Amino acid sequence: MSFIDLPQMISAGGSVRLPGSKSISNRALLLAALADGVTEIRGLLVSDDTARMLDALRALGVESVESEEGRWLVTGCAGRFPVRRADLFLGNAGTAFRSLTAVLALAGGDYVLEGVPRMHERPVGDLVDALRQLGAEIDYLEREGYPPLRLKPAAIRPGGVVGVRGDVSSQFLTGLLMALPLTGVETRVVVTGELISRPYVDITLDLMARFGVRVARGEGPSFVVPAAARYVSPGVFAVEGDASSASYFLAAGAIGARRGRPLRVEGVGRRSLQGDVRFAEALAHMGAEIDMGDDWMEASRPPEGLRGIALDANHIPDAAMTLAVVALFARGETRLGNIASWRVKETDRLAAMARELGKLGARVEEGRDFLVIAPPDDGQPLRAADIGTYDDHRMAMCFSLAAFGTPLRVDDPGCTAKTFPDYFARFGRVATPAPVIAIDGPTASGKGTVSARVAQALGFHYLDSGALYRLTALAAREAGVAWTDEAGVAAVAARLDVRFGDGDVWLAGREVSADIRQESISGGASKVAALPRVREALLFRQRAFHRAPGLVGDGRDMASVVFPHAGLKIFLTASVGVRAERRYKQLIGKGVAVSMDDLLRDLRERDARDAARSVAPLRQQPDAVLLDTTKMDIEEAVAFVLGLARDRGVATG
Ligand code: DC
Repeated sequence: MSFIDLPQMISAGGSVRLPGSKSISNRALLLAALADGVTEIRGLLVSDDTARMLDALRALGVESVESEEGRWLVTGCAGRFPVRRADLFLGNAGTAFRSLTAVLALAGGDYVLEGVPRMHERPVGDLVDALRQLGAEIDYLEREGYPPLRLKPAAIRPGGVVGVRGDVSSQFLTGLLMALPLTGVETRVVVTGELISRPYVDITLDLMARFGVRVARGEGPSFVVPAAARYVSPGVFAVEGDASSASYFLAAGAIGARRGRPLRVEGVGRRSLQGDVRFAEALAHMGAEIDMGDDWMEASRPPEGLRGIALDANHIPDAAMTLAVVALFARGETRLGNIASWRVKETDRLAAMARELGKLGARVEEGRDFLVIAPPDDGQPLRAADIGTYDDHRMAMCFSLAAFGTPLRVDDPGCTAKTFPDYFARFGRVATPAPVIAIDGPTASGKGTVSARVAQALGFHYLDSGALYRLTALAAREAGVAWTDEAGVAAVAARLDVRFGDGDVWLAGREVSADIRQESISGGASKVAALPRVREALLFRQRAFHRAPGLVGDGRDMASVVFPHAGLKIFLTASVGVRAERRYKQLIGKGVAVSMDDLLRDLRERDARDAARSVAPLRQQPDAVLLDTTKMDIEEAVAFVLGLARDRGVATG
């Protein structure tokens, strides 16, 4: 799927069991592989990044089997990989790439490590420099300082002091620390430059201790890996839920869950090893109501709303992306500082966030190492937008939260597979979309009038989808594009500059409600509406009307294509004779001379064409309610729809 369209969400609530932590899963896999004995890992994350680590370990001769879902048995190799020569492909998994580089550089084999093109743009030089101090032989196969790498057997000179820079990625220090026990000699690691993302180093030290290696910490910071250290399986190792993944649901709760009906995440809490649990503190600082236990957390919206904050986000670099989107729902500015590391992640996240937030109408300032975000000016709603995700799972996940303010399209939602393959399905289960009533039916059935009146009665938005096809036909004619030129008309449809007012329609700043009702434009509309690429180009434009508090959508594929999940679908019809009479009265009222016979023939022909056409044919959906208005007037039809809407809970009041 190349995109997912999200309607505007009106509330959030419920409970989510989190997938396993990526950081812990990949560290646990590597330590279990290096350990003496078999480790049973429970709750392992199943995602692209962990699959890359599992593949690599398998290629190195480490046996790992899934005994039941999420339960893996890894047979450790006691510090010596059976396979001494291998080419490893590590995708875009930084956790796997950096830690395997360190471990394999000291392992005495001949290995090539490579990844996707983006991995080859992510620096690794500081780690290579540190490993070379120990005698490791590492060649850059393409660009100095970046993957891919060739690691060669080398005479390692263990012990002493090794310096490593800490200000680009904490994964360099993590990799080095995890690898040093392989030397068997006491080694002191001294970090130069500021150590960023410290909580991830804490996870590393905690996991090493669980596998039997206690690292002493000193000032500087510095770390001492003891002599004769070796990894020993703890037997069973349980992976906790992913705290970064939790951030999206906690944020959804803070934006959209009512007090007393919070959004709950299960799998991480107060006892978590992961620094990203401190995301909850940041949310609380914004005013969210937060509660937590040992392994759960809950969030709900404060009655007075959220407020912007200024935060040094160095300790929660990943979860801070979520805060950048929460900022759209907070009063005032939110300033996220000390996040230069964003530039070397899955994408340049500072640039990507600034650009995509801007599309929604947010006010954004992108600094070298900070981001300032404020909602649109003057309480304007967020703009519906097509959000690019840059092959970055966190871009896709954090922008899903913008759906609490606007419908949006998220490109390449499959990119969440890196850490959270079924994210959007889970998000859909805890977020409630604004209601939609879809009204389809044959031409001249009165569905337009009924739809507009129902929308007005409920205070909902109204989408006259036929008008978009009419506008496209008009705009194409004015641009000199033939109605049969599919690519040309689709391009016109994609750039259509329209605004719907109260009963009027504007095209490129000109009022055109009468123009689009001309007979010739009706004919053009029916031609362009039969072109699949034109329908595709207008799809998101129509879905962009799916806003709070709700929508009535009128048109022939509302119930089937545009809003297949509409809470109420009506197929509104009337006998052809009655429809001809209604049209007759309407035209005579406008002073247009017509004959009943012509109208009847015309309607019969259009019905046949509409039902037979291959693209979005006129057809009652199986789950649509048939409303035959042959013997009803408008008031009765409107009352019928409103009654159903209340019965179905589509509209309250
Ligand atoms: O409902 P209307 O007459 O304004 O529609 C104009 C044209 O667009 C008509 O030929 C039907 C077509 N149409 C469509 O194909 N799909 C829609 N959702 C709405 C209208």
